[in-house]
Amino acid sequence: MKSVPIGKKGLDIPIIQGGMGIGVSLGRLAGSVALCGGMGVISAANPGFNQPDFYKNRRQANCRALKNEILKAREIARGRGMVAVNVMVALSDSEELVKTAVKAGADAVIAGAGLPLNLPRHTLGTETAAAPIVSSAKAASLVCRSWKRNYDVYPDFVVVEGGEAGGHLGFSFDQLLSGRQKTLDRIVAETVGALKSFEVEIGRAIPVFAAGGIFDYGDIKKALACGAAGAQLGTRFIATDECDASFEFKQAIIRAKKEQITVIKSPVGMPGRALKSPLIEQLSLSGGIPAKNCVGCLKTCSPASTPYCITEALISAVLGDWENGLFFCGENAYRVDRMMSVKQLINELTR
Ligand SMILES: Cc1cc2nc3c(=O)[nH]c(=O)nc-3n(C[C@H](O)[C@H](O)[C@H](O)COP(=O)(O)O)c2cc1C
Repeated sequence: MKSVPIGKKGLDIPIIQGGMGIGVSLGRLAGSVALCGGMGVISAANPGFNQPDFYKNRRQANCRALKNEILKAREIARGRGMVAVNVMVALSDSEELVKTAVKAGADAVIAGAGLPLNLPRHTLGTETAAAPIVSSAKAASLVCRSWKRNYDVYPDFVVVEGGEAGGHLGFSFDQLLSGRQKTLDRIVAETVGALKSFEVEIGRAIPVFAAGGIFDYGDIKKALACGAAGAQLGTRFIATDECDASFEFKQAIIRAKKEQITVIKSPVGMPGRALKSPLIEQLSLSGGIPAKNCVGCLKTCSPASTPYCITEALISAVLGDWENGLFFCGENAYRVDRMMSVKQLINELTR
């Protein structure tokens, strides 16, 4: 594996630990990944969930917590690797979170769950690299053309996420359930091809990182053979000592059986992959659980008609409440069978 130039920096180990909200990837996990030379990513999805004023003052609590987590990660990383922030476009406070990340000196902002057409508004002219998460070559080209037209800039790198990923997925239910979506290898190869003309125009590479279902060194090698510069992994980083989630969340991933991994509807407006936990069973029986404490976190959610509050469910999960939690995970979660340190995992992934 080769190091990858990103913005003015180089990423020694071309592995990104994907942002995992709520609270699954915060400063401790991201800093530990960066310390090993990779890119650790803090999720900006309600990082203030455990601040005392979260339910009264969500926006300020989130920005305050995000800044603290970036500082924590940088302290752990001791100048190695890169510390980045993942922002979901669907969040109602996404712009403030991007601004906070840039101001706090994040090395990159990676944005998904919608096309981040305005991300350069806050990263342009700063030291913070900007990257979209896409699920097709078409979406990658669209983002490139839009950023060029409106900001005269291209992405510093691109994350391509296939249908086997954990969390929200950029495919329709039909595609996912029928297995008709393209393979990750194919989407990576098509995206690498689509980016070529932009790369020629600017005289630099736009590195592509493959994400979704990547489990081991062999999977990374396959992605590199398709033209990727590296890989982004989420699920495997959950079962690490340094992951910010509770012991119970990590154990739920280690215990997961293949038949327990399912695709659910999310109030974000996209399908999501998660464990079939009691909450999912209850939702399929009752059709909905009214939100108790809506904090208005999503642009796409209407509290009166939402089948459940995803923020409540994700907070329950990160705190280890198996009955009420929504446990996002990738299609390969059933293959995770033990805890390890981030260093052991990165060594295993890079041989
Ligand atoms: C628990 C969990 C939470 C996630 N949360 C986010 C998120 O907040 N934003 C995002 O862009 N992706 C999110 N993802 C996707 C990951 O960043 C990553 O791209 C994906 O998990 C890769 O697939 P893998 O889990 O099969 O490795 C999440 C994934 C998991 C498992």
